[in-house]
Amino acid sequence: MSTKNGLEGRAVLVTGGSRGIGAATALRLAREGADVAFTYVTGEERAKEVAAAIEAAGRTALPLRADAADPGDAAGAVEWAADAFGRLDVLVNNAGVGVIAPLDTLALADVDRVLAVNVRAAFLAAQAAAGRMARGGRIVTVGSCMTARVPGPGGTLYAMSKSALIGLNRALARELGGRGITANIVHPGPIDTDMNPVDGPYAADQAALTALGRFGTAEEVAATVAFLAGPAAAYVTGAEFAVDGGHAA
Ligand SMILES: NC(=O)c1ccc[n+]([C@@H]2O[C@H](COP(=O)([O-])OP(=O)(O)OC[C@H]3O[C@@H](n4cnc5c(N)ncnc54)[C@H](OP(=O)(O)O)[C@@H]3O)[C@@H](O)[C@H]2O)c1
Repeated sequence: MSTKNGLEGRAVLVTGGSRGIGAATALRLAREGADVAFTYVTGEERAKEVAAAIEAAGRTALPLRADAADPGDAAGAVEWAADAFGRLDVLVNNAGVGVIAPLDTLALADVDRVLAVNVRAAFLAAQAAAGRMARGGRIVTVGSCMTARVPGPGGTLYAMSKSALIGLNRALARELGGRGITANIVHPGPIDTDMNPVDGPYAADQAALTALGRFGTAEEVAATVAFLAGPAAAYVTGAEFAVDGGHAA
């Protein structure tokens, strides 16, 4: 089913598109008319399924194994997608790792990995994308509701990493606005994915922290990403969007 919405002919890269929010976003953007490249690391079979769904929507799918923890891969995936499509219109910085653990158990390697994947890769991808995008380009970054509110222990590293993306987003909006490129950030609340399953041990507590009293779906996040990637959001930049069921309310 196609729900074309002004993304026809657009070339998109979604990082971490083999599962969860990234997969739902890749598929949503394809159904709105975009050709979609996406990265993954371990989930080759899942990536093939996402690619098949994009192609069933009549669009080109380009899955690429590229580890966001590797700085060469983080920027290289952007260059590869832009070369393959001959253009790049939308970057969705979605790949992320969720490490929730007590402060005294977090090792230096945890800090380095979370910052490499959640922060450094988003910076490097945005930097590379800015070099390839024309007027009308869009950068959408996936943050977290834990940038507004950390409702329990264990969130130091993850909340720190996602909060850095808010500064990145605002600064990108200022730096790229003159070229007609927008940058926005979406903060999901508890979303039912492999990272945070709705039947997980802390799920009921997380649902209770939202105003709506439930988990969201990956598709509900993808809908806001698609809005920000599309023509209706042309005058929206440097902004933050909570898709969190009222977690921050
Ligand atoms: N789910 C939630 O409740 C929630 C809430 C707030 C924010 N978020 C954020 O939303 C984003 C997506 O989360 P999700 O829940 O959809 O996670 P998920 O179900 O764990 O999926 C993560 C995706 O990212 C990919 N990925 C992981 N590490 C990567 C790396 N180093 N390089 C490239 N790709 C990588 C995975 O691919 P492979 O498996 O193939 O490696 C997978 O496609 C993350 O940034 C997360 O922090 C999620």
